[in-house]
Amino acid sequence: MPELYEVLSKEDIDKKVAAVARRISSDFKGSELVMIGVLKGSFVFLSDLARQLTIPVKIDFVGVSSYGDDVASSGRIQLNREIGIDIKEKNILVVEDIVDTGITINYLIDYLKSFNPLTISICTMIDKQQRRESEIRIDYACHEIQEGFIVGYGLDYAENYRHLPELYHLKL
Ligand code: IMP
Ligand code: MG
Repeated sequence: MPELYEVLSKEDIDKKVAAVARRISSDFKGSELVMIGVLKGSFVFLSDLARQLTIPVKIDFVGVSSYGDDVASSGRIQLNREIGIDIKEKNILVVEDIVDTGITINYLIDYLKSFNPLTISICTMIDKQQRRESEIRIDYACHEIQEGFIVGYGLDYAENYRHLPELYHLKL
C-alpha cells in the first residue's frame, strides 16, 4: 500500500498561496493579467490563487500530459487542450502545480510565445529542484522541495489523490 506523509497542511497552503497572491497583485497592479492554468494538476491551486488576487484577471487553461501513470516524466509532451482566448500583447501568468524537470514549462513557454504575448511569468505551487534539466526562471513559487513525489491539492499519482486538501509525500 502506498503511504502518505503530510508535507503542507491546509493552513500552510492558505498562507503560502495568500503570500504569492499579494506579490502577484502588487507586481501586476494597473495592468491586465491572463492566468493560464496547466491541466489537470493546477485546477485547485489556480482556483485558490485567483480568488486571493486583488487585480482583475482573465483565466484560461491548457492541457498537457507527459507522465502517463508513472512517477517519472516520459519526456514527451502532449498538448491536449489549446488556449481559447486571445493573449496577444497580454501579460501571461502560467500556473503550474509543480515544476520538476522543467520540460513541460519550457514546452509551454515556446507554445505561448507563438501567440506574441507581452510577457510570460511562471507561477507554481511546488518548485521541485533536484531533477531540473535546464535553467528556468520561476517567478512565483509557493513551496520548494528537493525531491520526492507529491500528491494532493490537485496533484495526482495515476489520477488518484487530486481531491485531498493537503499536500502529501507519496511513498510507494
Ligand atoms: P516536468 O515536465 O518534469 O517539469 O513535470 C511537470 C509535470 O509533471 C507537472 O505539471 C506534474 O503534472 C507532473 N509531476 C512532476 N512531479 C510530480 C509530483 O511530484 N507529483 C505529481 N505530479 C508531478
Ligand atoms: Mg500530472
